[in-house]
Amino acid sequence: MNILAFHGSPRINGNSDILLEETLKAVDTSRHKVQVFRLNSMNIKPCQSCGGCEEAGICVIEDDMQQIFRAIREAHRIILASPIFFLGLSAQAKIMIDRCQALWCEKYLLKRPIPEGQYRRKGLLLLVGGMKKEIGTQCGEATAKAFFRTVSVSEHATLSFLGIDQKGAITQHPTALSDAYREGQKLIQE
Ligand SMILES: Cc1cc2nc3c(=O)[nH]c(=O)nc-3n(C[C@H](O)[C@H](O)[C@H](O)COP(=O)(O)O)c2cc1C
Repeated sequence: MNILAFHGSPRINGNSDILLEETLKAVDTSRHKVQVFRLNSMNIKPCQSCGGCEEAGICVIEDDMQQIFRAIREAHRIILASPIFFLGLSAQAKIMIDRCQALWCEKYLLKRPIPEGQYRRKGLLLLVGGMKKEIGTQCGEATAKAFFRTVSVSEHATLSFLGIDQKGAITQHPTALSDAYREGQKLIQE
């Protein structure tokens, strides 16, 4: 299978990064192709709402998003890992998601959804927030759900952790790393 992962935090080795790496440890790379996009270091312009994608479902902006579009089309599993910033996904993740408006047009205006494929596309959402209140992840989850639907991932699991703030604090959580590994195992089940 093609496993595609997005990391939305600017912090390398931060909490969402550690969770993502733990999830990917469960993936046998001799059997599956893993591609990780670290969005913070990519050249992705925010959606310009230019309408350029409405007729063909193709984004007219030539930047790193073009390789992401290709990877999304070929993916069998999609992982989105993001910290919670101001109650939502990070800007890095949101910019990538907004650019998927082109795929939204392709699916809903042109009635050409990305095919589910032989493995039925599945997703995993990994969220980490510093606050303890439950509302902390709700907005981010709603956005991620809209993203997954748009890219024909009809089924996804969510693993979220609140009250985790300092860089690396997730390693002190009693179950987070084993939870992430287990979700990785589940994700690659056919
Ligand atoms: C700009 C910014 C905004 C944040 N906003 C929130 C927030 O609204 N809710 C929350 O729970 N945590 C918030 N946090 C805390 C981060 O979600 C938390 O530190 C998280 O562990 C970071 O994950 P990372 O190490 O993967 O980047 C914010 C952090 C930053 C830098």
